[in-house]
Amino acid sequence: MYTAPLAIVTGASRGLGTALAEQLAASGHTVLGLSRRTAALPASVEQWPVDLAEAGPVAERLAQWLRERRGAPSAVLINNAGVVSRPAPLEAIDAADLRNAIRVGLEAPLLLTAAFLAATADWTVPRRVMLVSSGLGRRGMAGSASYCAAKAGLDNLARALALEQAAQPHGARIASVAPGVIDTEMQQQLRGADPVLFPERERFAALHRDGQLDSPATAAAKLLRLLARDDYGDESVTDVRGA
Ligand SMILES: NC(=O)c1ccc[n+]([C@@H]2O[C@H](COP(=O)([O-])OP(=O)(O)OC[C@H]3O[C@@H](n4cnc5c(N)ncnc54)[C@H](OP(=O)(O)O)[C@@H]3O)[C@@H](O)[C@H]2O)c1
Repeated sequence: MYTAPLAIVTGASRGLGTALAEQLAASGHTVLGLSRRTAALPASVEQWPVDLAEAGPVAERLAQWLRERRGAPSAVLINNAGVVSRPAPLEAIDAADLRNAIRVGLEAPLLLTAAFLAATADWTVPRRVMLVSSGLGRRGMAGSASYCAAKAGLDNLARALALEQAAQPHGARIASVAPGVIDTEMQQQLRGADPVLFPERERFAALHRDGQLDSPATAAAKLLRLLARDDYGDESVTDVRGA
């Protein structure tokens, strides 16, 4: 019999995902982390080294993992893993990089969320899904088209799923959440980009220089406060400004 709440975090090997996994483990969750690499996380965090660019088999394995934990008091899936392709105009980026950004950033959340919802469909305990989005899902940015497309996809995925789940007696609560700007490798990639190919580079350098970035721990705490709220999911596309 499983008595601990369950939490699945994608992209747990660094940045925001590591902080989410640490904080969830510290609050007593049974945590499963999914990334290509593993991280120095508490021993209680189970880590699967998986490539979410090929999410189909991972989703099947996740469904089985959840079925084996039936009876848990709650379950959350945080689709956190994301990829920025090399910051540059679309036509300058390799097709493989573009495909990877969409597979990891949009296809994997779609497949993992489907597996999560199917495996727990008849659970009556609270079930929550968070899609980690970005302000760039809500506005465009030159040099970041695949990322913008994936994040906009997550936002509308949340809107559609929220309608589906609201029609069910114990439906899951779902939101696509912009986490703010965070001091992670993703930000390093943006401010380290070629300024000729990526005109926004200086804006990202200034965010870092001016101390505008949240630490991963601070950003994770904001997301987890939002996730724990009774009204989580009432707004299916949201951010952490009020959290
Ligand atoms: N940082 C920001 O300012 C910011 C702002 C808005 C939104 N976000 C969003 O917040 C989330 C976390 O971002 P972050 O800044 O922490 O990014 P990050 O430091 O680049 O970390 C990305 C995570 O995704 C995982 N990942 C990448 N490709 C993967 C693959 N093929 N299979 C499995 N896992 C993969 C990485 O693990 P492996 O490399 O080990 O696979 C890593 O754990 C992302 O969705 C990002 O878009 C970040």
